[in-house]
Amino acid sequence: MKLKITLLAILSLFIYSCATKSSVPTEVAKKEEPKGLPFARVLTSEMAEGKILYENNCNKCHELYDTKAFSAEKWKPIVEDMRKKAELSEADGSKIFSYVAMQ
Ligand code: HEC
Repeated sequence: MKLKITLLAILSLFIYSCATKSSVPTEVAKKEEPKGLPFARVLTSEMAEGKILYENNCNKCHELYDTKAFSAEKWKPIVEDMRKKAELSEADGSKIFSYVAMQ
């Protein structure tokens, strides 16, 4: 009887040690690095819409201009002029402006 108890104790100790061993994480899960360009910024929904409008409408007659090529003050009349050329509404023009001017 005593032997049985001792054996049971040893067995349970063995099981316990195995159980604790396996529960220790071997590698801490690494946090995923956000993908994308390092200079990517968070866009407001208006800017995001502007980006889509810009990329879909402003390369029909020429290549897309770098958004950094002009200051916000310079972009203002250009976008006004170009959104008419692209036959876009004033609302779309202001979305495009918010995108190109804030980048
Ligand atoms: C119907 C054709 C057409 C469309 C569509 C068009 N453009 Fe243009 N874009 C031109 C022409 C032609 C020029 C050069 C002459 C001028 O400034 O009018 C030009 C010039 C530009 C320039 C240079 C301006 C400067 O001062 O150097 C920028 C920037 C520009 N476009 C941005 C845009 C944007 C933003 C859109 C979308 C809203 C757009 N374009 C859509 C025809 C177009």
